[in-house]
Amino acid sequence: MTEREIKDNIEICRKKFEIHMNGFDGKELYELPACGDRKYHSHSKGNNLLDMYSWVASFVSGLAPIYYLESGDRKYIDWAYKFKEAYHEKVFEYPLDTMHDLGFLYIPYCINLYNITNDSDFKNDALKAADELLKRFDINGRYIDAWRRMDSDEGTGRAIIDCMMNIPLLLWAWKTTGNTIYRDVAKAHADMTEKIFIRKDKTVCHSFEFDRNTGEVLHESNCCGFGNGSYWSRGVSWAIYGFAVAARYLQEDKYYNTAMELLDKYLDSLDENDIVPVWDFCLPDKEPAKIATNCPSEASWDESDIKNREFNKDSSAAAVVACACMELLKHEDNERLKAVVQASLNILCSDKYFNKDINVEGILKRQNGQMVYATYGDYYFVQFLYMCIDNKINLW
Ligand code: GLY
Repeated sequence: MTEREIKDNIEICRKKFEIHMNGFDGKELYELPACGDRKYHSHSKGNNLLDMYSWVASFVSGLAPIYYLESGDRKYIDWAYKFKEAYHEKVFEYPLDTMHDLGFLYIPYCINLYNITNDSDFKNDALKAADELLKRFDINGRYIDAWRRMDSDEGTGRAIIDCMMNIPLLLWAWKTTGNTIYRDVAKAHADMTEKIFIRKDKTVCHSFEFDRNTGEVLHESNCCGFGNGSYWSRGVSWAIYGFAVAARYLQEDKYYNTAMELLDKYLDSLDENDIVPVWDFCLPDKEPAKIATNCPSEASWDESDIKNREFNKDSSAAAVVACACMELLKHEDNERLKAVVQASLNILCSDKYFNKDINVEGILKRQNGQMVYATYGDYYFVQFLYMCIDNKINLW
């Protein structure tokens, strides 16, 4: 695909973004959940920035810095400023109502805006988010604790594969402040992930529970994949990308090598001729599609047809892996990576996956095995396109 064609595709996404810009003000933005048939729907638990379980709020606000970089139009930054107060409030007023996904929230919005504007408020809010993430580190088990309220003594400890994508917040905080505690915790969590989550065959688990008194690993305890022992495709995409970013910050080949090994296994697990995976590689052939509970489906998306494997695809995982390949290419020129990038461009930008109608908010179809649009896949898709025209800049 030529640079002109990539830019044209970004232009389509940018026009769709105008719908968000017109529709949300500083109070309402975070009601955008990660799903939709033709629109993003609102009022779903965990999708408002101030909700404890929020992890998707920045996948719309965080597109503004990318569109600014790509177009040079300051209106995107002006729009993004509307939400500054809310990001500040979350970590300064309600730090106990946060969870491990602070990286997903504060990287796309605060770090990118800090890099562009040099406004130290964004830096301070992202550093406070990093401090809250640090508090989740379990010194015995050497993992960042997922989901649990830090003011509660209930339950076991839990580490999850997704958290590889939160450790860049700590690595950025280390580079920004020089305080090595951020680096040490990020490294400890990455090393734990490498040791415990990656199986001998290079597939990965979603989650393990830990004894919170001793740090001992209790058992595998899947939440997001198909089941214990399965191989969740978006989970591995977070791991590949997280290890790739760790390799850049830490300048250690071992993280690059881990990312490449995970990538090789992931690519070998794909269906022939499609860079988009099923949402879990261990799905039985006739597993019905996940029903999109909080979004109406389009009539043409017959989710009851269990024979159609297409219903189980997750284009968001493919978009994350495509970004990871761009990140890995910063480390080393590699023909296999370039081939994945080209295949991702061709397939994700095809009509099968990319809705090019500028009146429809959603961008990437077929996310999360639910035949829905989702803000996370859309964000990484746009970021990927942007990286394809400028991979020298480190967004974060
Ligand atoms: N929280 C990351 C994911 O669900 O993919």
